[in-house]
Amino acid sequence: MSTPLPSHPPPPRAAVLTGVGSCLPPTAVTNDELAERLDSSDAWIRSRTGIRRRYVASPGTATSDLAVGAGAKALKSSGTPDVDAVLLATTTPDRPCPATAPAVAARLGLTGAAAYDVSAVCTGFLYALASGAGLIAAGAADRVLVIGAETFSTLLDPDDRSTAVIFGDGAGAVVLRAGDAAEPGALGPFDLGSDGGREELITVAAGGSRQRLSGVPPATRDQYFAMEGKEVFRHAVRRMSASARSVLGRAGWRAEDVDHLVGHQANLRITHHVADAVGIPRRRCFSNIAEVGNTAAASIPLALDQAHADGVLTPGGRVLLTAFGGGLTWGSTVLTWPGPDRA
Ligand code: COA
Repeated sequence: MSTPLPSHPPPPRAAVLTGVGSCLPPTAVTNDELAERLDSSDAWIRSRTGIRRRYVASPGTATSDLAVGAGAKALKSSGTPDVDAVLLATTTPDRPCPATAPAVAARLGLTGAAAYDVSAVCTGFLYALASGAGLIAAGAADRVLVIGAETFSTLLDPDDRSTAVIFGDGAGAVVLRAGDAAEPGALGPFDLGSDGGREELITVAAGGSRQRLSGVPPATRDQYFAMEGKEVFRHAVRRMSASARSVLGRAGWRAEDVDHLVGHQANLRITHHVADAVGIPRRRCFSNIAEVGNTAAASIPLALDQAHADGVLTPGGRVLLTAFGGGLTWGSTVLTWPGPDRA
């Protein structure tokens, strides 16, 4: 006689955060240093963005170098040297082809692991986190290293004061493992979205198939990052607020349940507007933008690592992550911060 089938399917596997790390290049550039060559000032930059300094990778340092630094620390903090997949969120890969993640995996001693890049500009880390959680839920991986790393300075027009003062370089990483949805550290539901109809708001025009290689170098301005700051500001507030509210609803959390809002570090004023719109007191926003600027796909894991190191994120704390970026793209998730020995 055959064994009867179980009447209930097993609960889906959750992805549990089990390690965090980050890496910054050694050189910090202050607002005053930028103001020496741009028509700007420390007072303007601080009051309009919250930024005091940012780190800049020297020539010769690539995104993969920062990614390896952050990834190694996250693996160490997770207590495991091994994962099944390495996902790298970046807007600034080492080169157009191949993806940067396989080289990062190899340098971390993870040859053989699945490895791919995720491209969603400042939302990249949230998208990669969802992708890693999906690999675990599908049983395709038991452990995943998710890295956000950028050398955004390589895209910036040094004479464009509207972008040169905002962005910085750096990397952050987390390790996910298969676990139970009720465990501390388990990632909650995700809310992800995009609106490609507004892609022109954040662009680098050259370097892809739209402007093909033709033997004539592309115009210099087309190789630089361009952004319509004011319009992006409005979209960032609207999209992150809506996404955060949506994910809270799906998780069954109220705004007052959130102990820490760790949002994409785009602009301190954006973070505060999002907190106000969702109903989270501003004092519950973690921000490290003053010290690192906007590091695009690296910003959320960098902030998580710093908040953890500073003792802001403690076991049991309820954390809301939300991001917005070029594409346009946005995403949010929630988690309860894990125990002391595993983050
Ligand atoms: N220093 C001094 N003045 C500056 C400046 C700078 N670095 N950058 C812009 N200005 C000037 C503008 O030229 C403008 O001058 P004008 O009034 O004479 O025309 C004035 O400041 C106001 O410009 P505006 O663009 O309206 O400023 P803002 O308050 O919107 O701030 C940003 C500009 C870029 C800081 C802001 O729009 C922003 O943060 N946007 C989102 C950026 C972002 O996070 N992008 C990443 C994607 S998530």
